[in-house]
Amino acid sequence: MQIKNICCIGAGYVGGPTMAVIALKCPNINVTVVDANPEKIKAWNGLLDELPVYEPGLAEVVKEARGRNLFFSNDIAANIEKAEMIFMAVNTPTKTEGEGAGMAADLRYIEACARDISKYSKSDKIVIEKSTLPVRTAEKIKEILEENSIDIHFEILSNPEFLAEGTAIQDLFKSDRVLIGGDETESGQNAVKALVDIYANWIPKEKILTTNVWSSELAKLASNAMLAKRISSINSLSALCEKTGANIDELSKAIGMDHRIGPYFLKASVGFGGSCFQKDILNLVYLCKYYGLEEVAEYWHGVIKINDYQKNRFAQKIIDGLGGDVERKKITILGWSFKKDTNDSRESAAIYVTHSLIEAGAQIAVYDPMVDAQKIKSDLKILWESKPLSENEIQKKLACLECFDDYRSAIQESQAIGILTEWDEFKDYSWESISQNTLIVDGRNILNHKSVISIGK
Ligand code: UDX
Ligand code: UDX
Repeated sequence: MQIKNICCIGAGYVGGPTMAVIALKCPNINVTVVDANPEKIKAWNGLLDELPVYEPGLAEVVKEARGRNLFFSNDIAANIEKAEMIFMAVNTPTKTEGEGAGMAADLRYIEACARDISKYSKSDKIVIEKSTLPVRTAEKIKEILEENSIDIHFEILSNPEFLAEGTAIQDLFKSDRVLIGGDETESGQNAVKALVDIYANWIPKEKILTTNVWSSELAKLASNAMLAKRISSINSLSALCEKTGANIDELSKAIGMDHRIGPYFLKASVGFGGSCFQKDILNLVYLCKYYGLEEVAEYWHGVIKINDYQKNRFAQKIIDGLGGDVERKKITILGWSFKKDTNDSRESAAIYVTHSLIEAGAQIAVYDPMVDAQKIKSDLKILWESKPLSENEIQKKLACLECFDDYRSAIQESQAIGILTEWDEFKDYSWESISQNTLIVDGRNILNHKSVISIGK
């Protein structure tokens, strides 16, 4: 099948950058990204420095391709109908209610996508799972697609995205591997070939790995679980370092120089965040339990438990540093995004640390170079609503929070500063003089100043 038109449903952190790069690298294919949220589409069509996703290099890619063969549209029906290939890149959060609540992936958006595709398709389609999904979701999608469509053939592929936020464009340009899972039937293999041909425009063939659908679906969950496990491993050791006098950065270096282990993902921190790690591991744990593999489920659940432990430990370090009492004391949180170079704050450690400090009675000031006050407040509101707290209680807690557009105002008269994100600009602040009157707790080990309290040292 010759691909002339691609449609992607979901203009988020994955759909937006991925389609921008496909359009850039495949000028002969029209790529249209649609989204249920018209505001998002408007922003993708708007000013380059106000795109809904902040990623280094993204604006340049959008500038070159937008209007040429990259389009952002609200017309979901027409673009599904026109496309030969449809990517599903909607979010798949953890379920908050019903069976598997708090663990299983909420597939309602992906199912809505499949229903739309089924409703608006008038010709055969290759449908691609870009979102991270539990293994064997393709079966369910196929069922929905085929429910209402007679005489239309849908071929489902799994093509999980491995980009990391903050380096998305570089990761897309030079992927370690592109994974494509398809059925072993002739039509399945034709669909796989059609997608391989697209990536082959810029990814060396030996890096394009084809597997069956189930291996591909599970590989995404397993890759994220393995990455997160390294962070929890090093973070667990950071607690031991603090007791024994060992230094976690020295330990990471010594461990990582073994080529069988390697140096990546061994940076001790306040705990990992992001939209994927926690959600995907919980999903893996749920799958293991579903198949009766209790020991395997428990093993992976440990990764999440250590991450929660690390976030709590960090908040406690600040409280202990202030003599065990933070009642009405001003504490500044520097960094709200879950890592540097992104405006994404999903599951950021900053949300949980701030919650713990407000619970303990502190007044919190926040500064982040990319995340605005509205987002910071809404992240906390979502957490508090899930507890669940009443609107009145939430408003009381929000009164303990102030967000700032510059770090100087944020740290003014603060008794403690917690560094939650490793933004480069934080390294250049005048820590020598700030540390004279303020406790500094560095959750990213980016400062070398002797009076700073770090992780694992
Ligand atoms: C992605 C993946 O798809 C997810 O499975 C993975 O685990 C994390 O990354 P992401 O792009 O980060 O999700 O999510 P988000 O930025 O929230 O974007 C999803 C978009 O889909 C949103 O813009 C939302 O408006 C849109 N959407 C959602 C639809 O268009 N239709 C829906 O039914 C639901
Ligand atoms: C991750 C995977 O890396 C990516 O392949 C997948 O597609 C999506 O999930 P992402 O969450 O965007 O990407 O960022 P990542 O760089 O993996 O960082 C996740 C979290 O771990 C961040 O909070 C980061 O600060 C933290 N981290 C990372 C550490 O604390 N220590 C490390 O050594 C590495």
